[in-house]
Amino acid sequence: MAYFPRVQGRLHVESLPLADIAHEFGTPTYVYSRAALTDAFQAYQHALGDHPGLVCFAVKANSNLGVLGLLADLGAGFDIVSEGELERVLLAGGKPEKIVFSGVGKTPAAMRKALEVGVHCFNVESEAELELLSEVALQCGTTAPVSLRVNPDVDAKTHPYISTGLKENKFGIDIARAPEVYARAAALAGLRVVGVDCHIGSQLTELDPFLDALDRLLALINQLKHRGISLEHIDIGGGLGVTYQQETPPPIAELINAVKARLSDSGLALVMEPGRSICANAGVLLTEVLFLKPTEHKNFAIIDAAMNDNIRPALYQAWQGAEVVDQHAGETKTWDLVGPVCETGDFLAKDRPLALAAGDLIAVMSTGAYGFTMSSNYNSRPRAAEVMVDGDRAHLVRARETLADLTRGESLLPN
Ligand code: LLP
Repeated sequence: MAYFPRVQGRLHVESLPLADIAHEFGTPTYVYSRAALTDAFQAYQHALGDHPGLVCFAVKANSNLGVLGLLADLGAGFDIVSEGELERVLLAGGKPEKIVFSGVGKTPAAMRKALEVGVHCFNVESEAELELLSEVALQCGTTAPVSLRVNPDVDAKTHPYISTGLKENKFGIDIARAPEVYARAAALAGLRVVGVDCHIGSQLTELDPFLDALDRLLALINQLKHRGISLEHIDIGGGLGVTYQQETPPPIAELINAVKARLSDSGLALVMEPGRSICANAGVLLTEVLFLKPTEHKNFAIIDAAMNDNIRPALYQAWQGAEVVDQHAGETKTWDLVGPVCETGDFLAKDRPLALAAGDLIAVMSTGAYGFTMSSNYNSRPRAAEVMVDGDRAHLVRARETLADLTRGESLLPN
């Protein structure tokens, strides 16, 4: 992680020692690098070049306003899946006409709001949604721009929980049925058919599944043309993987260039929805070792971050790096880094060779995507602070939750 260099034994974010952040803002804290976010986003933009299209950051990966605002300033579009994400993007200064609205369960209220502000496209996932969206649009006196999310039935070769493009998944419309559904969409008065989209999974480390899916979508687009339905854009979703340990996903430019080569004479704009590949390696979770608890069988380091802060290891058996922030002399032993939550699944790393002492700071690496956004208040733990670093300056972009925050909106029963 180039934006988190080690200088004379001290781990930094850009040019600021991570320990300084812990002293100023406490732990656990998510720390993001502005330069890392900027460079990853710009890699997509540069690869897109002058091909018409949109790079729509998948807000679910990291929805902090500071992150969204930075990306909006760089010209990003956004992929949203709820009214809440729409609200965040608008607050962050994102442009409605650069928003694509995905998700299998859009509510009428969310549809209305998105129509009011004028999003670029609704990525529709079912026939029932198509009918409802048309109705809502007519009630609003407008037409909704739609793309159908088709399920191309390709194996993304990733973890089953984050694989979405197989027939047995709940997502999208079976590609075999898509022509029929497009015909229905074209006939509905409240809709304007503009595109096609797919998203086959997350943390893909190979190019082939993307290109297989793309070829299937292009064949569909051809079929539709013969039926008199022509599309303006193709949306290939997100899904490009990152290096957590030793994975070697294709570089962003390689993916986009391969996609553009297949689109060259199609006249189709290219929409993308990357999340993880923009922010995963732009963030770390900073935590402190509370106690060391060596036992006969295992050495446990109990840290002040837990599965409620980062659920990825528990949920997906995810591996993320763990580094001692300020290295010191001492015997290296093998440690499990476990949190204070009352579950055996509460660990952030297992079997790591580290020289540790109580009070040490640890950085859990590659946690900028699906880290804070999947965090919860389980065990009544206030959620972590979030800090964005720019050079040697740190900005608090989300204050740590307080104990009062934990019970906001709750009440005792009347006597
Ligand atoms: N577009 C759609 C429609 C999606 O469902 C997703 C992610 C993305 C784009 C962005 O995908 P990305 O580029 O980040 O792979 N919580 C899991 C990942 C779930 C991904 C869900 N959908 C994890 O922590 O690994």
